[in-house]
Amino acid sequence: MAAEPALETDLPASPPEDHTNAIDIHTTAGKLADLAMREEEAIHAASARAVEKQHAKGKMTARERIAALLDEGSFVEMDEFARHRSTAFGLEKTRPYGDGVVTGYGTIDGRQVCVFSQDFAIFGGSLGEVYGEKICKVMDLAIKTGCPIIGINEGAGARIQEGVVSLGLYGEIFKRNAHASGVVPQISLIMGTCAGGHVYSPALTDFIVMVDQTSHMFITGPEVIKTVTGEEVSFEDLGGARAHNTKSGNAHYMGADEEDALEYVKALLSYLPSNNLSDPPAYASDADLEINEDDLTLDTIIPDSANTPYDMHTVIEKVLDDGEFLEVQPMFAPNIIVGFGRVDGRSVGIVANQPMQFAGCLDIDASEKAARFVRTCDAFNVPILTFVDVPGFLPGTGQEWDGIIRRGAKLIYAYVEATVPKVTVITRKAYGGAYDVMGSKHLGADLNFAWPTAQIAVMGAQGAVNILYRKELAAAEDPDARRQELITEYEDTLANPYIAASRGYVDSVIPPSQTRVQVIKALRALKDKRETLPPKKHGNIPL
Ligand code: HXC
Repeated sequence: MAAEPALETDLPASPPEDHTNAIDIHTTAGKLADLAMREEEAIHAASARAVEKQHAKGKMTARERIAALLDEGSFVEMDEFARHRSTAFGLEKTRPYGDGVVTGYGTIDGRQVCVFSQDFAIFGGSLGEVYGEKICKVMDLAIKTGCPIIGINEGAGARIQEGVVSLGLYGEIFKRNAHASGVVPQISLIMGTCAGGHVYSPALTDFIVMVDQTSHMFITGPEVIKTVTGEEVSFEDLGGARAHNTKSGNAHYMGADEEDALEYVKALLSYLPSNNLSDPPAYASDADLEINEDDLTLDTIIPDSANTPYDMHTVIEKVLDDGEFLEVQPMFAPNIIVGFGRVDGRSVGIVANQPMQFAGCLDIDASEKAARFVRTCDAFNVPILTFVDVPGFLPGTGQEWDGIIRRGAKLIYAYVEATVPKVTVITRKAYGGAYDVMGSKHLGADLNFAWPTAQIAVMGAQGAVNILYRKELAAAEDPDARRQELITEYEDTLANPYIAASRGYVDSVIPPSQTRVQVIKALRALKDKRETLPPKKHGNIPL
């Protein structure tokens, strides 16, 4: 970071510091008092009115957010007295301590983290040179010490008065985001309006958490959109938490309020290691390896009719320790479920088809959601547990023209590339390409289980019979009766788990009630798995 200019000679400080008149800074006591006064000024860099405005919108200040995120009293601030050096457009008249961002380190649940928190009350939270330098510095600290970095974002993008210097600092931050990716967990909270450059750094991080009604993200705001395209859209509809959680898929969680959003971040961190060279926190487990009453309920969860849905959340919760599941992106592509839990006291990442949405079909959004999650787990040493009930890829011109081929391929790529332990349980349908994609043995899963209700085949009975026997059915005296006969024959011979089991494509066919115990044993067996891929600069995942 560049040296602080000689303030009193170079540039006027703001507000004028006449407190030096009241204390004698030539004595030790005076120097201490001077420091205390400067600290007080830094803490109250924003005006009381700006703080009031923030509170009136149901939002916390930058410092209050850090206090709510970190363990009490653990925060250590860096660069508290840093100030901008700009003289353009009257900026020299206002030089608040901190330059609009609070940075430093502390602990969450006793674990070290780095944090920055942007202050909308100072220049609209806009990013200037010194502000950017402060963020780079704390990111560098996180990368070299191997601890997560949490960014609390609220700001108006590039600080207009600082011009290209501001753009340069954004670039420096993006570079660090990319370098930190897969090295330390990076989590972004969007706690207000984030415009322009303020959204690309969060987009490069692992998770984005927003707050209902009070947080927004966009590259160009409603006014620019109206001018350029004539489209009229509100802030909320354009870039509110709901839009980014349901439509764009940019956000991973929508907090009911700021506290809820901060709690979600703490929960996420509890499943992740501090960096890629360490393991996630593990808890002593007293896992019961006997089948219990709760396990037995899974034996009746699959309906007799293959077209009747059931809630895959129930299966997930029965297998995870204490039924605790932290879902990620629950509002986006709900036909696939992803999230974290623990098995035997250790973190696992869950990927599961949801038969209650689109019958569990894979589509573009589901493929990308799951692919991203699989890669996040793999980067941070979290084993992947996959539950499969998938009738195939969603058909339609929309899907084809929007690139399901390229974008669905991401999930294949992600599973193949993942070297963490991979355990797969097929509960019901595993048809066609989707069978391959969803953590199959062929893509490198380590241990694969199927329930006796599994149907592992190229397609469902109805479709198969219609294709294979079209002519025969057209000529049949009673086509419906003949179709039913053929469907039953197909189901009895092909749509079961035993052909796959006879080939070793599934390692065991187990009663559903044994799933929890078998998954515990599988993950114990895989705990020290070592697998390395051929060395290369990096792969070329279809983007
Ligand atoms: C400097 C800014 C600023 C900016 C706002 N302010 N944006 N100062 N640079 N970019 C100042 C305002 O002058 C005001 O100062 C204070 O911040 C609060 O702003 P308001 O407009 O009063 O707040 P609000 O009504 O809540 O609106 C917030 C806002 C709006 C929606 C974010 O300010 C806005 O649209 N700002 C411009 C956003 C933008 O276009 N940024 C540049 C993007 S380009 P006073 O003194 O009156 O309190 C970019 C390029 C990076 O970021 C590319 C990297 C890839």
